[in-house]
Amino acid sequence: MVEIVLGAVMLLASSGTQADSSLNVLAESGKNMYEVLGCASCHGENGEGIDSYPALRGLNKEYIITQLKLFQSGERESSIMNAMAPMSEGHEEEIAEYLSTLVTP
Ligand code: HEC
Repeated sequence: MVEIVLGAVMLLASSGTQADSSLNVLAESGKNMYEVLGCASCHGENGEGIDSYPALRGLNKEYIITQLKLFQSGERESSIMNAMAPMSEGHEEEIAEYLSTLVTP
């Protein structure tokens, strides 16, 4: 009985440390997609923007999702983003979640 209680306490303790991440699960997977798809190479590792490539950090989540869909459909024209945005298809929400959690230092 003592072992069972101890086991339960340890389980709670370990799940507590796992949840102690600054990013939620959705944002964590968005961060991964943002890096894997190469978005960071233009928009910066932390969404800070590079030269003429715009910063994305801290933008409104819904705004980012909308823009990605507009780029995908071609309604918003940008030769670069019309080519890049289709790769984010199905991952718009997680990428937007991640970028919207980044704050300007
Ligand atoms: C080769 C460089 C490049 C890459 C790679 C790239 N982008 Fe962009 N992105 C741009 C440029 C340039 C613009 C500005 C387009 C315009 O308004 O003409 C832009 C604009 C955007 C915007 C709109 C920002 C705003 O303020 O309205 C979003 C959102 C965005 N990119 C997300 C992404 C995501 C997500 C990826 C990865 C799938 C990505 N970009 C990859 C160059 C890039």
